Amino acid sequence: MGKDVIIACDFPGGRECLEFLDKFKGRRPYIKIGMELYYATGPDFVRELKSRGYSIFLDLKLHDIPNTVRRASTVLGRLGVDMLNVHAAGGSAMMAAALLGIAEAGSDTRIIAVTQLTSISPEVLKGELLIDQPLDMVVQQYAKNAKAAGLAGVVCSPLEAEVVHAACGVDFLTVTPGVRFAGTDAGDQIRITTPARAKQLGSDYIVVGRPITSAADPTAAYDRCTGEFIG
Ligand code: C5P
Repeated sequence: MGKDVIIACDFPGGRECLEFLDKFKGRRPYIKIGMELYYATGPDFVRELKSRGYSIFLDLKLHDIPNTVRRASTVLGRLGVDMLNVHAAGGSAMMAAALLGIAEAGSDTRIIAVTQLTSISPEVLKGELLIDQPLDMVVQQYAKNAKAAGLAGVVCSPLEAEVVHAACGVDFLTVTPGVRFAGTDAGDQIRITTPARAKQLGSDYIVVGRPITSAADPTAAYDRCTGEFIG
C-alpha cells in the first residue's frame, strides 16, 4: 500500500479549488473533499475532478442510523471516489451498513472510520463526552470495531497510528490529519505532529490542509510534505 499525502481541499467553492489545483501544473495530488466544498458544489464537482484523474477521499463523516448510512453510501459510492468515511461512534451495524451500500453501488470505494477527531483533547473526552478510558485506547477500540465491521481503516491522529496497527495489523489503513510543520501554528488541531514524525509512527496517508492551502507557495509546501513523509 503506497504512502501518500492527501491535500484537504477546504475551499468555499469549485472556482477556488480549481485555481488552487491549477498551481500544480498537470500534477495530480491525492485530494480530500470535505463538507465545505461538497456542500457548496455537490456531486457534479466530484465527478468533474474524477474525470480529471484525481484520487479523491470524500470526507463527509457519515453518522446516522444504519439504513440511512447504507442508502447514502450507495449514492456516494456511485461517484467512484477512492475513499469515503463514517464515524466509528455510529456503531458496528452502521459501519457494516456503509459497506453494504457501497456493494450495492457496485463500487470499490474504500470505507474508513473516524475514531476521535484530531481536535478532541483528552480533557474534552473525559469532561464533556464522559469517556474515562485514555484517548489512545478509545481510538484503538474504535479501530478494532471498524476492522471487525470489515472496514479498510480509520482516521486518527498520527500519534495513534502505532496502537491502531498493533491491534489491527499493518495492512489496516491509518489516514491521519493533525499534521503541521515543526514550529508552525496548530490552529484548532490538538493531537498533531510533523510529516516526518508521522512517517516514523507508521501513518499510511497524511491529510494536510492549511499548511499547504494557506502557504505562500502551496506546491513548495506540498513538496516539503511529501519529501518529509515519503522521503
Ligand atoms: O487544515 P488542516 O490540516 O487542519 O485540515 C485537516 C483536515 O482533516 C480538515 O479537512 C478536517 O476536516 C479533516 N479531519 C480532521 N480530523 C479528523 C477527520 C478529518 O482534521 N479526525
